[in-house]
Amino acid sequence: MKFLVTGGAGFIGGNFVHYMVDTYPEDEIVCLDLLTYAGNLETLKSVENKPNYKFVKGDIADRDFIFDLFKKEKFDVVVNFAAESHVDRSIENPEIFVKTNVMGTTTLLDASKEYGVKRYHQVSTDEVYGDLPLDRPDLFFTEETPLHTSSPYSSAKAAADLFVLAYQRTFGLPVTISRCSNNYGPYHFPEKLIPLMIARALDNESLPVYGKGDNVRDWLHVYDHCVAIDLIIRKGKDGEVYNVGGHNERTNLEVVKTILKALDRPESLINFVEDRKGHDMRYAIDPKKLETELGWKPKYNFDTGIQQTIQWYLDNKEWWQNILSGEYQEYFDKMYKEKGRI
Ligand SMILES: NC(=O)c1ccc[n+]([C@@H]2O[C@H](COP(=O)([O-])OP(=O)(O)OC[C@H]3O[C@@H](n4cnc5c(N)ncnc54)[C@H](O)[C@@H]3O)[C@@H](O)[C@H]2O)c1
Repeated sequence: MKFLVTGGAGFIGGNFVHYMVDTYPEDEIVCLDLLTYAGNLETLKSVENKPNYKFVKGDIADRDFIFDLFKKEKFDVVVNFAAESHVDRSIENPEIFVKTNVMGTTTLLDASKEYGVKRYHQVSTDEVYGDLPLDRPDLFFTEETPLHTSSPYSSAKAAADLFVLAYQRTFGLPVTISRCSNNYGPYHFPEKLIPLMIARALDNESLPVYGKGDNVRDWLHVYDHCVAIDLIIRKGKDGEVYNVGGHNERTNLEVVKTILKALDRPESLINFVEDRKGHDMRYAIDPKKLETELGWKPKYNFDTGIQQTIQWYLDNKEWWQNILSGEYQEYFDKMYKEKGRI
């Protein structure tokens, strides 16, 4: 089978490309990415020369380019990770979120319809459900929870989900959607909570924590997310939504304290800063449908996963230090353009 993986130079897409290239050597994986600030080809260095892997630079919202690519490559499966993904950036500049997350998705859907893709999978987020109150630990998001978004980011993701489902109902396109809780693990861009805190703690810099740090997130190791998507693509039912989460709720403050303890740094590094506008209080996923219908079971819990992740950042300092210095953005020119590979 031939897979198009969009956003594969980002955090989760990059982990998914590694997983697919290694797990299914008989399948072909084409990674498409615009290489925005969040896309980093160094993430894909170790698969670069694998025979079942290819990289293409481009914009999912560029209709002519996408239609040409689909015509040429004849994909069987499309997995769409490409998105503007950072809530803080969506508060600063909502429009690019509409362009990439909504119009990029409808462009991919149109091309999938035109060229007979057998499975279109949309990687969505639990943020489309809004948030839950802190004083109701009995409540969880199910696939039936109404969409009720808070930020321009989650609004754009929810809009995209509705288009995906409409293409199934209206045109019979074979689609599936996964809505996952917060991911952590290797190759996470260092503006996000966990890698940011690891990097700053290692440098003995203060750790900025929004508000009182009592917002609760349901953390899932990115490896378990990749396995879930693979299962959904192969065994999921057309038109269905699957929630993905591992019941690992932690407050932001607990996460930061765990990192400080693991790195043997003092809690005095914590610096509480003004809260994010419209900050969601609690996300918590009920993954029963994925577990019972498709047999998914996470490999990591938060305690084992966070130790593996911290060790990865210690072992791969060059990867994230290149990002912090801005050097990673030159990698594409160096490796692809100058060598005439693209
Ligand atoms: N990170 C999480 O915790 C989380 C949780 C649930 C769902 N998700 C979803 O998973 C997906 C991937 O998230 P992530 O954290 O890996 O994001 P990311 O920001 O690390 O990666 C996004 C990638 O998309 C690329 N991209 C952006 N605009 C593009 C465009 N117009 N055309 C082609 N490529 C483009 C970027 O260059 C980048 O490589 C997103 O759709 C996000 O909504 C993320």
